[in-house]
Amino acid sequence: MSGIKIAPSILASDFARLGEEVRAITEAGADYIHVDVMDGHFVPNITIGPDVVKAIRPHSDKVFDVHLMISPVDLYIDAFAKAGADIITFHPEAGPHPHRTIQAIKAAGCKAGLSLNPGTPLELLWPLLGDLDLVLVMSVNPGFGGQSFIESQLARIEIIRKRIDESGRAVELEVDGGINLDTAPRAIAAGADVLVAGTATFKGGPSAYAKNIAALRGGA
Ligand code: DX5
Ligand code: ZN
Repeated sequence: MSGIKIAPSILASDFARLGEEVRAITEAGADYIHVDVMDGHFVPNITIGPDVVKAIRPHSDKVFDVHLMISPVDLYIDAFAKAGADIITFHPEAGPHPHRTIQAIKAAGCKAGLSLNPGTPLELLWPLLGDLDLVLVMSVNPGFGGQSFIESQLARIEIIRKRIDESGRAVELEVDGGINLDTAPRAIAAGADVLVAGTATFKGGPSAYAKNIAALRGGA
């Protein structure tokens, strides 16, 4: 069994049966439940808010990995923490003071993640790395599932991996967007330790989830 964690994005699930879907991926071996929160302002799509997170929380004992694609961020941190988020990840472009946002996430009792869009300079990450629990590299532009993996992100994953290792801190490196059986091993080789997968987890329906998750993890 590899140490790679799989975080199915429920964005690709059947929203009419969300509780059942969360239960099914939990039983199928998901490590994290990845929740994509979009506001129609920071990204051109609208998904779900804290009330939905609260409603699905009892359906899984796994880590709730909440990816906020919203602006502003700070106003909503407590609501997502109370709803059951374990990790809260945000984008540095979404608010004026990313370090303050990290402090607010930790004060709310959650782990803090920073997400980098494909065009976000890595320089925004370095001053914050020592305070983070997770770095999320977007391998698509945020807003939609089912997009193609942007190859240029592999080199960025390698650079971040090296800096995390040099820091000696336990910071998880998560990759999100276009992960499938072709791109998963390449993201892992570049240094990812958590893979978000929406389309590739949910394809084929509930009877395929366990097989899909094991295949993405590799070495299972
Ligand atoms: C995109 C989201 C992703 C997305 C991944 O903005 O952050 O989590 O749902 O979907 P797939 O795996 O289908 O690319
Ligand atoms: Zn996401």
